Amino acid sequence: MIIFLIGFMGSGKSTLGRRLAKKLSWEFIDMDHFIEEKEGLKVDAMFEKKGEEWFRKQEQDLLHSLDPSENLVVATGGGAPCFGNNMDVMNEKGVTVYLKMHELSLASRLENARVVRPLVKNLGPEELLAFIRKKLQERESFYNRAHCIIKGESVKPDHIIALVFGNNWP
Ligand code: S3P
Repeated sequence: MIIFLIGFMGSGKSTLGRRLAKKLSWEFIDMDHFIEEKEGLKVDAMFEKKGEEWFRKQEQDLLHSLDPSENLVVATGGGAPCFGNNMDVMNEKGVTVYLKMHELSLASRLENARVVRPLVKNLGPEELLAFIRKKLQERESFYNRAHCIIKGESVKPDHIIALVFGNNWP
């Protein structure tokens, strides 16, 4: 079974995903990191040298290549659910969990972690909030198609486990 964590940049998918996988003794894939390793380039360098469209194709290929019979936690990139039929692919291959966060929480988290994110790295504080508002509006219809939606601000691995498995621990 695959658990996909989805949500906006800065919503904590990677940190939570790593912890969740550890708790379940499952494999963990961070999509950005996986593509970086494969290409030998950081995400911002990929955007610069190869372009966003090319990066989206890498995300799509990775999602298509996942084997749904494996026990796997996947932290997706913030844009991944919003391109092509990626949301359908994830919903078919596993359980999708949207870590939903308030725009101000996202802004304060991204304020400190902008540099590695090509879409926001050159934005000032006010531009950042405006960008988050606009992008969230565009993206929420995709994120809202997740099987489960949980408030991301203080979510713990146990909350995800309860949400996904109820009383049927794997
Ligand atoms: C992106 C989110 C990033 C990364 C890339 C584009 C987006 O992942 O894939 O910078 O379009 O929202 P994180 O959500 O892990 O920051």
